[in-house]
Amino acid sequence: MNNVKIVATGSYAPERSVKNSELSLIVDTSDEWISSRSGIKERRISTGENTSELATKAALKALKNGNIDPLDIDLIVLATTSPDTFTPSTACLVQAAIGAENATCFDVSAACSGFIFALNTASKFVMTGSSKTALVIGAEVLSKILNWEDRSTCVLFGDGAGAAIIQKSEENGIISCYTGSDGTKAKAIYCPATGVVNPYVEGKKERVNSFVSMQGKEVFKFAAKIIPKSVEEVLKDTKYTIEDIKYIVPHQANIRIIEAAAKRLEIGMDKFFINLDKYGNTSAATIPLALDEMVKDGLLEKGDKIIIVGFGGGLTYGAILIEWLI
Ligand code: ACO
Repeated sequence: MNNVKIVATGSYAPERSVKNSELSLIVDTSDEWISSRSGIKERRISTGENTSELATKAALKALKNGNIDPLDIDLIVLATTSPDTFTPSTACLVQAAIGAENATCFDVSAACSGFIFALNTASKFVMTGSSKTALVIGAEVLSKILNWEDRSTCVLFGDGAGAAIIQKSEENGIISCYTGSDGTKAKAIYCPATGVVNPYVEGKKERVNSFVSMQGKEVFKFAAKIIPKSVEEVLKDTKYTIEDIKYIVPHQANIRIIEAAAKRLEIGMDKFFINLDKYGNTSAATIPLALDEMVKDGLLEKGDKIIIVGFGGGLTYGAILIEWLI
């Protein structure tokens, strides 16, 4: 099996920032409620760009940062809950936009755990020699599937994209992966696609609205438990302990979830990288967006061990232990 490492990152978020106070003009809410319940202060909202356009901009930045020719990309795995179209996949749209004509492209649907699932999948392609250079993207325009009349959800989410390029390597950068799912909790975070409407269906024929709904308290309880479990699982059978980890990069959903996870893990909040105050929950994009921001801020040095950890609709969850080798 080949070793695999991350060689470059990139990210992009729409220009338009929407502060909590602006949302109180649309729904019955306040900056105080949103900040104290979630930690979110603002989020970026697309004024027209679709998911593939955000993803393309993040991918182009990663290619530039890694000085990589798009023709060398032989695999694009894109995680999203908010694709441009049922078909083609958003990965194919990105392929065309960046000129990666040698790539095999597909999307992964694992909601907010999407980037973890996509990086795990792509790294297996590189490990087995099926791919030499893979582009992994998490991208969302969640604003198009939010119910902007539902204050319990619309205040929590935002739009954005992040990308990472991985390659075969001498040293091992993807140390271990842990993932899981619980389909019995499908309704905890839910967004229907079309119902079955055709000439042979009897009775009422209504198209459904594709809006996100969420059982907030259930998700909170699940997340506060599954973050520590995933961190412990990904460290298991490695030579590392939590003390060796410089940063945990969690899915950026809610500061109180991260605080609860820190408490269970008996570690300080300073070990967690947090930028949800600026972007809100961008689902599959939060982790790659955070990684790229950490690179830009100079927080990551060669040899650092970090854990990325996510949870989301499905329910899905997982973590990856990474040695930073750029
Ligand atoms: N502004 C003002 N009041 C609100 C708002 C709002 N935006 N939203 C809900 N409320 C009200 C409710 O109507 C309720 O009022 P009531 O008591 O009169 O019925 C009250 O605030 C309390 O509502 P709760 O749902 O009990 O609030 P809670 O403290 O649980 O916080 C929250 C809600 C933030 C959603 C919390 O449950 C949470 O963080 N859950 C985790 C879910 C999460 O993070 N989801 C995103 C991740 S999912 C994913 O990433 C895929």
